[in-house]
Amino acid sequence: MNIDDFRRHAHEMVDWMADYLETVEDYPVRAQVAPGEIAAKLPDVPPEQGEAMETIFADFKRDVLPGITHWQHPNFLAYFPANASPPSVLAEMATATLGAQCMIWETSPAATEMETRMLDWLGQMLGLGEGWAGVIQDSASTATLCAILTARERALDWQGNAAGLAGQGGLTLYGSAETHSSIEKAAKIAGIGAAHCRKIPVDATGAMRADALAAQIEADVADGLTPICVVATLGTTGTGGVDPLRPLGEICRARELYLHVDAAWAGSALILPETRWMIEGIEAVDSFVFNPHKWLLTNFDCSAHFVREPDSLVRTLTILPEYLRSQRQGEVIDYRDWSVPLGRRFRALKLWFVIRSYGVEGLQEMVRRHIALAEDFAGWIEDAADFELVQPAKLALFCFRYRPAGVPAADLDALNRRLLTTLNDDGRIYLTQTVFAGDYVIRVSVGQTTTTAAHLVAAWDVIRDTAHRLAA
Ligand SMILES: Cc1ncc(COP(=O)(O)O)c(C=O)c1O
Repeated sequence: MNIDDFRRHAHEMVDWMADYLETVEDYPVRAQVAPGEIAAKLPDVPPEQGEAMETIFADFKRDVLPGITHWQHPNFLAYFPANASPPSVLAEMATATLGAQCMIWETSPAATEMETRMLDWLGQMLGLGEGWAGVIQDSASTATLCAILTARERALDWQGNAAGLAGQGGLTLYGSAETHSSIEKAAKIAGIGAAHCRKIPVDATGAMRADALAAQIEADVADGLTPICVVATLGTTGTGGVDPLRPLGEICRARELYLHVDAAWAGSALILPETRWMIEGIEAVDSFVFNPHKWLLTNFDCSAHFVREPDSLVRTLTILPEYLRSQRQGEVIDYRDWSVPLGRRFRALKLWFVIRSYGVEGLQEMVRRHIALAEDFAGWIEDAADFELVQPAKLALFCFRYRPAGVPAADLDALNRRLLTTLNDDGRIYLTQTVFAGDYVIRVSVGQTTTTAAHLVAAWDVIRDTAHRLAA
């Protein structure tokens, strides 16, 4: 493709992009295809000759789009949001065009220096306080893995890296029963083992019980095990539970345990001063992650990872073959030492575009609006006699179940499962589920860029009508 053709196709693509964003509501939210349906449209073998971009683009629209779940749809109420925005998309276009691989300072000084500055901006925006250094990871899972590896190495005086884990005895890791699965995955990858990943009971709000944590640590120490790390969650995936940082921090300080905070979703809400109660006790935290790619108008992927002691993270991950030495070694930040992969995208650019384009106030307005919308929606459910608000709105997430009179308690899980499947197969809205305190419940997560009160009024109608039809 020559540059003139590129220019022409790029303009066509931008027109399609704007049209798509304008008409995204016309699509079913969740892809309505069967397994294998898209694969059947893709040839078994690659083309020998190049094909015209017109043909490729037409096939994209005809064959690929039906297999897309529309995360930017205003009725996307599933999982957590991945809310994108036009400024972020523009930055992604520039990033893709530059095609820079920003593994070390020298391979694009602007990428490194902007990353440092953007993380500093984010730390200020969230009110994290002084004394942090930041890095952008691809995902919260990676940041948590890095934290757990650092905790392991710190506890083993960096001997795990040097000599392996044989003979190191049992290391243990602590999260709550509601902690995200990435913690257990990290325990497996880090050689700690899923069986040594303790799931501490939660209270009625879904927050980790500090007393139960302390008791479990005591019991493990008595059994000759070595506790190394606690992962606290702000905004659990199931119900938005918030673990209490201050008492967890006290336990960690007393035992010299590493304390990592997973605020993947709820971290964005910290741009609102009224939510900062969630980080009371942050002084005792060693590392903190949140995802601007969830709720801060920044396209996936962009995970902001803050650490108190960058030297510990770097010491855990660094490795220096001759081909990665550069003239500026030691004088500058080389972010390759701060993450698992060597190669790095220029992710800071989209943060720069987004934060400058909306300003802190614009972002605050959006998060505040989503929280208010979720609270209203939760209120409608609470007022409905045949529905139960199982967990109230925590930020912009709440959980409910359909509970019509006359249906035995033992049948409610199956009824709600059927309700969710029917709703998602219908395509007008998209919701997901969790199990809390043994009950199957439906989650509503508000946070898409263009979601308004009118969308939620309509969504509530769809939920009620569908539930009543199922019960009839
Ligand atoms: C609390 C929490 N932690 C971690 C993750 C994983 O995030 P990522 O996809 O960035 O790894 C999620 C995803 O929703 C989450 O809710």
